[in-house]
Amino acid sequence: MKITVVGTGYVGLVTGTCLSETGNEVLCVDIDMDKVKKMQQGEVPIYEPHLDVLFERNINAGRLTFTTSLQEGLDHGEIIFLALPTPEDEDGSADLSYVLGVANQIGKLIKDYKVVVDKSTVPVGTAEKVQAAISKNATCDFDVVSNPEFLREGFAVDDFLKPERIVIGSSSERATELMKKLYKPFVRSGNPIIIMDEKSAELTKYAANSFLAAKITFMNEIANYCEKVGADVDKVRIGMGTDSRIGKRFLFPGIGYGGSCFPKDVKALYNSGKEVSYNFQILDSVIKVNQNQKIALLPKIKEYFNNNLNDKSFAIWGLAFKPETDDIREAPSLYIINELLKEGVNIKAFDPEAMNNVKKKYDGQIDFANSMYETLKEVDALIICTEWSIFRTPNFSKIKDLMKGDVIFDGRNLYDLEDLKKENLSYFSIGREAIT
Ligand code: UGA
Repeated sequence: MKITVVGTGYVGLVTGTCLSETGNEVLCVDIDMDKVKKMQQGEVPIYEPHLDVLFERNINAGRLTFTTSLQEGLDHGEIIFLALPTPEDEDGSADLSYVLGVANQIGKLIKDYKVVVDKSTVPVGTAEKVQAAISKNATCDFDVVSNPEFLREGFAVDDFLKPERIVIGSSSERATELMKKLYKPFVRSGNPIIIMDEKSAELTKYAANSFLAAKITFMNEIANYCEKVGADVDKVRIGMGTDSRIGKRFLFPGIGYGGSCFPKDVKALYNSGKEVSYNFQILDSVIKVNQNQKIALLPKIKEYFNNNLNDKSFAIWGLAFKPETDDIREAPSLYIINELLKEGVNIKAFDPEAMNNVKKKYDGQIDFANSMYETLKEVDALIICTEWSIFRTPNFSKIKDLMKGDVIFDGRNLYDLEDLKKENLSYFSIGREAIT
């Protein structure tokens, strides 16, 4: 099939590349000329495991191409994916100006039948707005469908190629059939393509992300309570998660959820509720609890150093909001860094992928190291913010030799308490006994 993807951000690029992998001819459109040039030369603009291999293979096969011309894009594809940014407005709701701007253009430029697909995470009712914006100028038939993505950063290629489900919001038989044909190769395992109305599809995405954010937040509150009463959240987590109604996944407590999706989507759903006089009380709490959770290590750090952090030196392991990404949007590490800088702490950080992004933000304010151990020379404490695999089995003797102090503050519960007790290190984690 001939497919066009408008917007080559994270979602657009993964969508376009993976759709070309099953033999479709995919043309990606972006207004950024520089980026398009680089992609035409085979350069992948983001870090996402396995994307580079697929990218190169499909460019070489001539199935994946790039342009800055929306007209060319609209002439090419029968299905037009909109994977455009929907940034957070000042009031926390999703800004639709990019999506509706392109929809206006589409109406003027299409010459024959198109299925226009909302792939971006957009508030309930957006498909209707896109339909209206295209209708204003269109002289031919078209349909608008909603097809939210459920890709996790770091696993996006795998999630796209082997989705647990595909959700399609459509009220047109013709569009539904084309979408089913497009996705058929990805659900050979028997996973469902779920067809529903556009509004329900749009809400499915927000509901799924908000539920997962609430699940994590619930566990974070249980963890905080565990600390007060001397229970161990790891044991509670396993005890709870083995009930299949609860499930083992997404129950890991820590220093809060971050990233470009959960924080934005929970706020957007909360705000959409307000617009129709519905107060999502549970989401209000999730937002507030998560905000505090991001700096949950701070009181422990301050207490340990008797409220005097001025001129202390700390190592930070992990800056990305989660492992396997260079994304630092809403990363808990940044909230911790901001607080520590205010207290006069000297920081030396290491992250396998995200250091360049942090450098741009904190130019000259913090130091960076080329390896995890290099951060430790003469520091008073080690703080762990992201659970990269490389941090999971460190050489504790080396840590002790390099550090001046002997304390680890672990925001991701990486280490077994029994193992740590043998190491002669003080260790503070989330929802578990402190080792001092
Ligand atoms: C999330 C969803 O998982 C995807 O299904 C969705 O498509 C995507 O948002 C999106 O809307 O585009 P992502 O933001 O890549 O994906 O990251 P997750 O792996 O879901 O993690 C989100 C946050 O939750 C991270 O900060 C992570 O550290 C935190 N988390 C996750 C926990 O604190 N505990 C857990 O048990 C799981």
